[in-house]
Amino acid sequence: MNPRIISLNQSSTLKITALTKKLEQEGKDVINFAAGEPDFDTPSFIKDAAKQAIDNGFTKYTPSRGTIQLREKIAEKLQQENNIPATFKNIIVTAGAKYAVFVAIFSLINQGDEVLLPSPYWVSYPEIIKLAGGVLRVFPTKSTDDFKIKAEDLEKAITPKTKVLILNYPSNPTGVTYSYQEIEAIYKVVKDKGIFVVSDEIYEKLIYDGRSHISFASFPGAADFTVTINGFSKTYSMTGWRIGYLVAAEKLINEISKMIDHTTSCTSSISQKGAQAALDNKEWQEFIKKEFQQRRDCLWEGLNSCPKIKPIKSQGTFYMFCDIRDTGLSSMDFASGLLEKHLVSCIPADSFGSQGFIRVSFATSIDSIKKGIIRIKEFITKTNGERLL
Ligand SMILES: Cc1ncc(COP(=O)(O)O)c(C=O)c1O
Repeated sequence: MNPRIISLNQSSTLKITALTKKLEQEGKDVINFAAGEPDFDTPSFIKDAAKQAIDNGFTKYTPSRGTIQLREKIAEKLQQENNIPATFKNIIVTAGAKYAVFVAIFSLINQGDEVLLPSPYWVSYPEIIKLAGGVLRVFPTKSTDDFKIKAEDLEKAITPKTKVLILNYPSNPTGVTYSYQEIEAIYKVVKDKGIFVVSDEIYEKLIYDGRSHISFASFPGAADFTVTINGFSKTYSMTGWRIGYLVAAEKLINEISKMIDHTTSCTSSISQKGAQAALDNKEWQEFIKKEFQQRRDCLWEGLNSCPKIKPIKSQGTFYMFCDIRDTGLSSMDFASGLLEKHLVSCIPADSFGSQGFIRVSFATSIDSIKKGIIRIKEFITKTNGERLL
């Protein structure tokens, strides 16, 4: 066996999701605060376009980078909404955003190059870095800084061996995002140090309280040293359609596309037609954002009324990161106790390279959120009571 495969971790996210599924199969009424995907069905205007693609026989290989029509539509979106100077030649459509992250990292690093990964991080980045033969350098951010990278800390963390910095905002798992000034400060450091950035902006549309998303590649010259990752899974409830994309300098795209040629060939032709229809509809984006903001508000209020839990108000995504250190439990003990005894699943922060926190997803109904909050309160009260005995 390839030692790189053996070295991969099976994340503790999977442990909790497996137990959640088992309990659900046993007919238990589990409140799912662990979900990493929207609970909405894919909107019908997307399904209809895909059905039409099948009926029209659009069921063969497409160009490995994706159809010209879809890439042109994505380029138009990037210019208008993200201020990224892209044409279809800067885009590769991939089988999900995760595969876009994989090919980006795999193509950028040589054996032994360091990849700087701010923590808490999304579970797949460390494993992808290891798989690609990179050296993982975790760069911890502080809860007192809202888990955001400070430019002066970043400057110190970059070494001559650093090749790539991973950015993900709005962030999974913390739900925080960056203002224009904050991201500009990071851009200045990166530009000065001459490293690459992989900027995963898949949650860009799920951003609350009137905030705007500022793409890293929108700063002058940044498109030359940034691979922007995005996709359709989260905004359009299309997780199972496996469609995402990356945006980069043409030279890099020409190299990365060889990897696509010899691995997936292309992503599903049918999903590409669905994605094209998705980009034509702005109303859905408004709808899903409004829905998630209402749920965020309900969860925020509820968690604030729970003793010993300090939630961090999420600014984007559908996750709320919560400090549970006052309960005296480890994140794993908290998450497994809450699930086994009170049938509420959430993700322990161990999976994200952090301790003493849990990630609560609000990709579920307001009713479930309210029910879940009651159960969390019972769990904390009972756990504290048991400790006092
Ligand atoms: C930060 C981040 N990037 C990428 C992905 C992967 O998205 P996709 O389903 O399009 O592969 C996820 C999914 O959880 C994510 O949270």
